[in-house]
Amino acid sequence: ETGMVTIDPGYKNTGSCESAVTFLDGEKGILRYRGYSIEELAEKADFLEVAYLLIFGELPNKAQLAKFHSDIKEESQVDEEMKKILDGFPKSAHPMGVLSSLTSALVAFNPTSVDVSSETAMYNSIVRILAKFPVLVAWTLRKKKGLPLDYGDDSLGYVENIHKMMFKRPNQEYKKDPIAIDALDKLLILHADHEQNCSTSTVRIVGSSHAGLFASLSAGISALWGPLHGGANQAVLEMLEAIEADGGDTKKYMAKAKDKDDPFRLMGFGHRVYKNFDPRAKIIKKAADDVLGNLGIQDPILDIAKGLEKEALEDPYFVDRKLYPNVDFYSGIIYRALGIPTEMFTVMFALGRLPGWIAQWREMRLRKEPIGRPRQVYIGENLRSFVPLEKR
Ligand code: SDX
Repeated sequence: ETGMVTIDPGYKNTGSCESAVTFLDGEKGILRYRGYSIEELAEKADFLEVAYLLIFGELPNKAQLAKFHSDIKEESQVDEEMKKILDGFPKSAHPMGVLSSLTSALVAFNPTSVDVSSETAMYNSIVRILAKFPVLVAWTLRKKKGLPLDYGDDSLGYVENIHKMMFKRPNQEYKKDPIAIDALDKLLILHADHEQNCSTSTVRIVGSSHAGLFASLSAGISALWGPLHGGANQAVLEMLEAIEADGGDTKKYMAKAKDKDDPFRLMGFGHRVYKNFDPRAKIIKKAADDVLGNLGIQDPILDIAKGLEKEALEDPYFVDRKLYPNVDFYSGIIYRALGIPTEMFTVMFALGRLPGWIAQWREMRLRKEPIGRPRQVYIGENLRSFVPLEKR
């Protein structure tokens, strides 16, 4: 029986599916969504366009994009009862736990049948979650800050509206902030999909049991929360702040990262697939300079990050293991400049990854993939007889 299977911990050499959504080449540092390079999309597209591209496979024309956005606006109300669930959390609750719970709770307020009975049913579920998820994200931020919850404004663009729901101050007119909105749009595009990463594989495997879209996404949010995955963007900022508090002693942290007896890792470095620069990290690093420059912010944390990167890129331990900065290394610096609390960084990653999760879930269901159910190699006890309690 055990001859049948080979174990592949972490599925390092296992392909779980065929997919047409995202292509990445780890050696060359290439990332494309539906054939379009991430560099072009980050430069020339906006996040809603990229969401449409990832999910439906083509860039939308004007009419398709307008209809997509208006369909989303139609669905942007979140049932007031959902606020009772949010209120049930202590302020100290981590936003990723709140977001995962609220996403799962959405099922109770949107009891659609299993979302693939028809293209229309699936489209409606997709539009519904693209509309409501940003509201839930904004609510988790405002709860954390003790601010009244806010609803969107249909006159705004998709990302503008997200920015408004997150940052509009009570009893003040919302002031559009083009620099912040452009930075946010670009960051969301750069996070939108990444083939079969841990959280996307989670969304696929939960969906493969024919659990609904919202339930599958809720599971994906939990997987993303881990510090080895999306949670790394929060861990990077905590690491950089610790280095700053230590007088900028990057050498101490580099030594810790190399010490096998020390569980500490250089957060924001390394990647399962990229054995060269993560193309997203390159774009985000440049965007960090631009955004901080445009906002007139001098952040010593950015200088520490650059110093750490420079040292690591010259250190044999990291060079030999092909460890380069990944998407999480610089993103937190921009989030911080935009006034987003560190604990919310991974929520922002989830907001960006939402279209990718949806696209991969939809593809998995349309291709009628079988339920995910791997085997194992059994290493436990052989058959043995029961011992009554009095004899143990
Ligand atoms: C994301 O998969 C995706 O696509 C994910 C993602 C996406 O868009 O969905 O790109 C987003 O999750 C980016 C990664 C964010 N995580 C971090 O920044 C956390 C720190 N990085 C690592 O823990 C690690 O690099 C991983 C988790 C990213 C990858 O781990 P692997 O592929 O399982 O590699 P490994 O743990 O086997 O490491 C190989 C070697 C080991 O040393 P040796 O045993 O060979 O001596 O490299 C070392 C590791 O100890 N190593 C590190 C390190 N990362 C790997 N040593 C110090 N610091 C690090 N960051």
